[in-house]
Amino acid sequence: MIALACDHTALEMKKEIKSLLDSMGLEYKDFGTFTEESCDYPVYGYRAAKAVASGECDRGILICGTGVGIGIAASKVKGTRVCTCSDVYTATLSKRHNNSNILTFGARVIGPGLAVMIARAWLEEPFEGGRHQRRVDQITAIENGEAL
Ligand code: RB5
Repeated sequence: MIALACDHTALEMKKEIKSLLDSMGLEYKDFGTFTEESCDYPVYGYRAAKAVASGECDRGILICGTGVGIGIAASKVKGTRVCTCSDVYTATLSKRHNNSNILTFGARVIGPGLAVMIARAWLEEPFEGGRHQRRVDQITAIENGEAL
């Protein structure tokens, strides 16, 4: 189950991502927003991130104007590993090496074609594990207040 969220800047792009998920046979849950009325991206970023952190959803794709605000908000939820990016390479490696569980991008930064390519690459890429698991575990340790 993929958690989706956006603010008022990204409704059209969220539709494009839904079409991609439909074509890939992946289920999703939309945490809003649902209208073009100006809204606060932290609300929707938080709701979707909570669903990922709790295990209700496996991963999340969150979109605002830049991808930055909704990504910062989501990253405040313990258990998230957020990748904000505008290119396929970063999205792919963020899964392969960092096991990112939330992808964000900006509807005012990239076009729908690139957004779909980024999302597809990120969804299809496996986590490599091995030495990268150790590093992801170190990130979790930092999150838990442990010293490295
Ligand atoms: C909304 O104007 C804009 O600030 C928001 O979409 C996002 O880009 C914030 O990071």
